[in-house]
Amino acid sequence: MNITLRQLQVFEAVARHLNYTRAARELFLSQPAVSMKIKQLEDQLGEPLFEQIGKKIFLTEAGKEVYRYSLAIENQLDELQMVLAEMKGMQHGRLSLTVASTANYFVPTLLGIFSKRHQGVTVDIDVTNRENLLKALTANTTDFAIMGRPPKGLELEAHSFMPNPLVMLAAPDHPLAGRKRIPATELTGETFIMRERGSGTRAARERFFSEHDGVSFAKTMEMNSNEAIKQAVQAGLGLGVLSIHTIEVELMLKRLVVLNIEGFPIMRHWYIVHRHGKRFSTIALAFKEFVLNEAQSLLRVPTAEDAA
Ligand code: PGA
Repeated sequence: MNITLRQLQVFEAVARHLNYTRAARELFLSQPAVSMKIKQLEDQLGEPLFEQIGKKIFLTEAGKEVYRYSLAIENQLDELQMVLAEMKGMQHGRLSLTVASTANYFVPTLLGIFSKRHQGVTVDIDVTNRENLLKALTANTTDFAIMGRPPKGLELEAHSFMPNPLVMLAAPDHPLAGRKRIPATELTGETFIMRERGSGTRAARERFFSEHDGVSFAKTMEMNSNEAIKQAVQAGLGLGVLSIHTIEVELMLKRLVVLNIEGFPIMRHWYIVHRHGKRFSTIALAFKEFVLNEAQSLLRVPTAEDAA
């Protein structure tokens, strides 16, 4: 059988209208061109598809079967078009992320895997601290934020996807290094290096020490990046509390140690956060699913034992 989609399309229009003139008008063809296409189709199928009774035309039994199949073929073609459009939407598009500075230690790994699967996706990333992140969400200038748990009451939807243990770090030659179950009060008199105001890590550490009173640090210093704090702790300037995600390499190279302080690690979690009711592109929805279903298994949360 050597029939074409165009012949079926012309046949379908004539069968639907049961009228050559109306079908020709719909298809922007002349009536003789429509009649010729139907004639060719009948010759190829070896069956008449219409019969004329008086001024009216009717479908023959064979015509009714061809009509049924031509509708099914058209439906399948529409479906194919939808599937292809969907696939295209998954491949292309822009994704905008605002990421807590600490989350930036693992987000690029996730994006690397995601962009390999969806080549053609463009990602805008803004790395900032928790306070600015909340501003970006409130102003609706980002699709998603990757951050610690957002405060309630901001019309946000937050889904947790991975633990974020915060640990107490010291230089390897610190007198408390290697000791087990050190009471927090033994930190009294230490110098403490902390993140800037607005950082989620800092807020969690402040909460911990306000619940464990009796510790008074000799001195506190403030630095606005995890990297600066790691360098300062390595250099013996003081102790620091940071997410374990930031120190994988330093633990392996034994440049930093995790102190075994009672009550530590402070357990935070990572969340993917967006405004409640936000309309997402196909690619943005795919990213959310990817983070929720795969991030934890694709990334490995380091542990203090990595130094062992
Ligand atoms: P950061 O971390 O703001 O200290 O970088 C994010 C968080 O833990 O909330």
